[in-house]
Amino acid sequence: MTTTNRSGASTGGHAGVLGFDDAGEGEAPLDMAALVELGRATMAKSFRQAPIVFTRGEGCYLWDAEGRRYLDFVGGLAVNGLGHSHPRIVEAVSDQIRTLVHVSNLYFNEPAIRLSKRLSDEFQRATGGPARVFLCNSGTEATEAAMKLARRYAYAVKKEPQRNVIVSFEHSFHGRTYGAMTVTGQPKYQEGFGPIVPGVRYASFNDLASVEAVMGPDVCAVFVEPIQAEGGLFPAAPGFLRGLRELCDRHGALLCLDEVQVGCGRTGRFFAFETHDVRPDVVWLAKALGAGIPIGAMLCSEATSDGFAPGSHGTTFGGNAFAAQVALTVLEVFEEDGILDNVRETGATLNHELTRLSERFDVLTGPRGVGLIQGLGFREEWAFATADACMKRGLLVNKLNTKTLRFLPPLIAQKAHVRAAVELLSDALGEVKRNPPTQEGKPS
Ligand SMILES: Cc1ncc(COP(=O)(O)O)c(C=O)c1O
Repeated sequence: MTTTNRSGASTGGHAGVLGFDDAGEGEAPLDMAALVELGRATMAKSFRQAPIVFTRGEGCYLWDAEGRRYLDFVGGLAVNGLGHSHPRIVEAVSDQIRTLVHVSNLYFNEPAIRLSKRLSDEFQRATGGPARVFLCNSGTEATEAAMKLARRYAYAVKKEPQRNVIVSFEHSFHGRTYGAMTVTGQPKYQEGFGPIVPGVRYASFNDLASVEAVMGPDVCAVFVEPIQAEGGLFPAAPGFLRGLRELCDRHGALLCLDEVQVGCGRTGRFFAFETHDVRPDVVWLAKALGAGIPIGAMLCSEATSDGFAPGSHGTTFGGNAFAAQVALTVLEVFEEDGILDNVRETGATLNHELTRLSERFDVLTGPRGVGLIQGLGFREEWAFATADACMKRGLLVNKLNTKTLRFLPPLIAQKAHVRAAVELLSDALGEVKRNPPTQEGKPS
């Protein structure tokens, strides 16, 4: 049986593991160190979690099992756009779970219809034409849907079955399933999992000549992130996405944008591509769309939507009434609370404060990013040590790589949160400067 300890952490069900007494009723609550030990002994080895168990969140703050408060500038890796326990999301979750959760895709449900219409309207506003929407459960699944649509559109609509190559980019990230992992242009994610999916070519990001070199009559689509996020935080250079559009038009390929991380307002526009004056054929979202409830959405132009016919792609959970209603509520809150304006203003403050900090610390190369996705570069491999020093001070920032920190605060963050975060970061940098990491700053 599962019980709840004083801090709200769920325990139980692991007889004998590490000698914990889990006899059910009367089970001793586990303290945070014991929970971490139990987690390390029982959970899959695919993550390297920090030794913290979070039990509660509110707004831009999280509390751990020992009651310590943290300012959250990781934001669930861009998922917690509305922060934690947003009252409108709490209400939507509670109401919808009482009303209708799931009916399968054999039937319609109203939230899925309304969400599709709402996303189509956003696409229409940004591109001039409506979208068809495929709802799924994650970013990876949305990538898979886009891959399948791109190939099947060439096969079924263009009647060119040999046109099945997808061009993607070095340092890109599109997810972890076989298809998504293959279009992810980073060997470390593919190592040991071969054979990967055939028919993918990689070009260099922000280098149109390298794309031109791999285009041809067999290319059905170009997959690109408007900001390479996991791959090091590199925004598309001005004109790059428009250049890709021209290349795609010239070679009969679809332009497909992965906005799983940078869509849904992260850059201060609903779609990140809106700042690039470009019209994609396909774009996909996830992360912030569900405020923590798993959801993904692949949007395609009306013209490309005939790539799918009934039965050609599907999902059991995708488009369920529960997740769709939560996503609809997220979009309502965006509008009612002026979230995009807030992202532009708070993002400018974050960029400004990180620039000022970089003037004070020689080790910093300055910020790079748009809106509330910002990276901070280091000349030395100090990023991990700095993130650890921040955590000790009650600030969560993401260790993107040994020379880059990533900031993904909730989209509701205010300037005061930014100033508090940068003050803690400055203090943490002072400590690291006094005691620089002796060897390459490996994760703790
Ligand atoms: C750009 C991009 N695409 C796809 C994914 C995969 O999304 P998920 O982890 O929800 O499957 C991610 C996750 O970080 C991402 O950043």
